[in-house]
Order: sequence, then structure tokens, then C-alpha cells
Amino acid sequence: MPGTSRESSPTPMLTAPAPRHNHIRPLLWKNFLLKKKHPVKWALEILVPVIFIVLMGALKHLMKEVKVPSGWSDTSKSVDGHTGTSYNLFQSNMYYITETTTSALLWNLAIEAYKSPLSMANLTAAQNLSCMSFVVQGKVNLDPTSPNAIPTACQERIIPRKIAIVPDNAYTRNYFGQTISKWYPAVTLTNDTLSPVIPAFNDSIIYFADEAALESHVKSNDYGRDINHPYIHSAIVFKNPPTENDFGKAQSIDYVIRLNSTTNDFNNIDGVPRTNVPAYSSQQKKINTENFEAYTKNGFMTLQTLVTRFA
Ligand SMILES: *[C@@H]1O[C@H](CO)[C@@H](O)[C@H](O)[C@H]1NC(C)=O
Ligand SMILES: *[C@@H]1O[C@H](CO)[C@@H](O)[C@H](O)[C@H]1NC(C)=O
Ligand SMILES: *[C@@H]1O[C@H](CO)[C@@H](O)[C@H](O)[C@H]1NC(C)=O
Ligand SMILES: *[C@@H]1O[C@H](CO)[C@@H](O)[C@H](O)[C@H]1NC(C)=O
Ligand SMILES: *[C@@H]1O[C@H](CO)[C@@H](O)[C@H](O)[C@H]1NC(C)=O
Repeated sequence: MPGTSRESSPTPMLTAPAPRHNHIRPLLWKNFLLKKKHPVKWALEILVPVIFIVLMGALKHLMKEVKVPSGWSDTSKSVDGHTGTSYNLFQSNMYYITETTTSALLWNLAIEAYKSPLSMANLTAAQNLSCMSFVVQGKVNLDPTSPNAIPTACQERIIPRKIAIVPDNAYTRNYFGQTISKWYPAVTLTNDTLSPVIPAFNDSIIYFADEAALESHVKSNDYGRDINHPYIHSAIVFKNPPTENDFGKAQSIDYVIRLNSTTNDFNNIDGVPRTNVPAYSSQQKKINTENFEAYTKNGFMTLQTLVTRFA
């Protein structure tokens, strides 16, 4: 018994009295009497939270259920009371995103470079006009002797964006590079003398001897500072390219497409989305197309298609 053990203890200790359960009954009764004095307040205390929960539930019911069948749905869009709404993944622009064409990618490289010049201040009107040919006439070649060389007026002002091809050897330069250059020459869009021109593939590329050269280029302090250190939009890296004797023969090509995977301060993707993170969250409410949209629009799939068509 606790009482006896306390008495027999040699040093008396202060202990709290054991709780008496019969306190709770009068306390509840007191609270009940207090509540009864203000019946409206009491009712509202209970009803308001309940009304809000019911209201939220009702609002949720107003939303249409979207059911996306597993696999690739190509049935037409349907609204069904039992299965919900289903989408044809081919027709709906919610999930189906087409990749950028090579021409659009090449032109966009020029546009992006023109939109973010180092400085266009104190250029004369004539120089401004000449500079504009970088973006409207496809004058994007780094080589000053090329007919499509970057206009001298903006050589220190516009930093071109390039597609890197690695390594620089007979296969990449004389076979791959030349073939793709024939496919994508400079395209004059109208018969007008001032017609816009889509830049040629040949004018938009830069060769690197190997991946180490590419990496030291992008890591250099002068990267993106002048036209000798252009920005690299993307790189097609051939691993073990075939030797000259094997050109034109059917064989597998081992290549890697490298893109900027830096995320900005808001964790948004500027270049290519990370693949070492979960593809989706089990809690997400809708299909998030941001990641695969990035792959279709930033040039990844465009370059993949380009090499695949070549191979
Ligand atoms: C603008 O002109 C001044 C004087 O001619 C020159 O010192 C300066 O470097 C020029 N600025 C640019 C961005 O070229
Ligand atoms: C040339 O273009 C720049 C920027 O686009 C502008 O600030 C400058 O005033 C232009 N110069 C002339 C002479 O129009
Ligand atoms: C591509 O450019 C190189 C020089 O940079 C030239 O020798 C070659 O003939 C060009 N190829 C095509 C298909 O225009
Ligand atoms: C451009 O010129 C060609 C031949 O001269 C002609 O057949 C074609 O219709 C013209 N295109 C346009 C858009 O004027
Ligand atoms: C990659 O993107 C970041 C942020 O936009 C930029 O600072 C960096 O220079 C880019 N890297 C390359 C190699 O272009």
C-alpha cells in the first residue's frame, strides 16, 4: 500500500496527492451550466466548423474527376458519370507536347543571343542595323572569313550560343557535321531581299577535340565574355566514333547529349531537368508536364532526333 510505504520512509518527501476522479464530474457540470446560459454561442461553436467542413466537401465535389487510363490512351475524350472524364493523350495539348524542330532550335539560339547582348550602347543606327543581321540574316558564324560571319559591329557585344560537337575528328567533322550541314543550310524565308533567314547548322556549331576541352571551355573565366568564348547551348558527344573505313556502314553509334542542368534560385529548371529525383509525387493533384516539356523544348529531343535520323 502506498500509504504505509510513505510512512515507513526514513526521509519524508513532498508528494502530490493522488488525483481524485470525482473532480471531473462537477467540472463538466459547471461547464455545461455555463454553456447553457449562451445557447446561441454554444450552437455556433459547434456548427460553424461543421458547416465549413461540409462546404469544403461540397466545393470539392464541383470539380470534375479526370481519369487518365494507364498506358497510352488514344480513345476520344469522354465525359462519363462512372469513369470520370478521360483524355485522348494524342489530341489534348495537356499531355502531348511536340519537340522543337532543328530549324527553330537554330533560330532560337540566334534570338536568345541577340536578346541578351553585353551592351548595345553607343552604336550608330547603321551599326545597329548591321548587328541585327545576326538574328534576321543568320550571320552567326564565329569565323570572320565566313560569308555568314558575325557582323563586325557587334562582335564584342553579342555572344553567340553554339551547339558543340565532340570530338573533332574525320567522323564528326567530315561525315556527321557535313551531312547535317547539307540537311540544314541557311534558309531564306521569302523572295524579298530583306527576307529573314534561318541560320545554317554549319554556322551554329563549334567542334571540341574532346570532352576535357569542352569542359575547360565552359569552366574558363572568359566563358561567355567574348566571341572567342561563345556560350555552349548543348553538346553532342560521340563516344568511340567509327574509323574512316567504316563511314557509311550500318553500325550503332554511342553518343551523349549534354545540356545545362543548373537550377536557378527558385529550383526551376533552366536547362535539362534532373533525373536523380522522384519522377512524380504521390500527392500531386494533376499531371505535371513541366519536366518533359523541358526535354521537348530545350533542344534535347531535337538533337536526339537529329542524330537518330543521321544514324
Ligand atoms: C562608348 O564610347 C566610348 C567613347 O567613344 C568608349 O570609351 C566606350 O568603350 C564605348 N562603350 C562601348 C560599350 O563600346
Ligand atoms: C542602337 O541600339 C541600342 C539598343 O538596342 C540603343 O540603345 C541605341 O540607341 C541604338 N542606336 C541608335 C543610333 O539607334
Ligand atoms: C561547313 O563549314 C566549313 C568551314 O567551317 C566548310 O569547309 C564546309 O564546306 C561547310 N559545309 C557545308 C555543307 O556548308
Ligand atoms: C519566290 O520566287 C519563286 C521563283 O521566282 C516563285 O516561284 C515563288 O512563288 C516566289 N515565292 C514567293 C513567296 O513570292
Ligand atoms: C548554365 O546555366 C547557368 C544558369 O542559367 C549559367 O549561369 C551557366 O553559365 C550555364 N552554363 C553553361 C555551361 O552555359
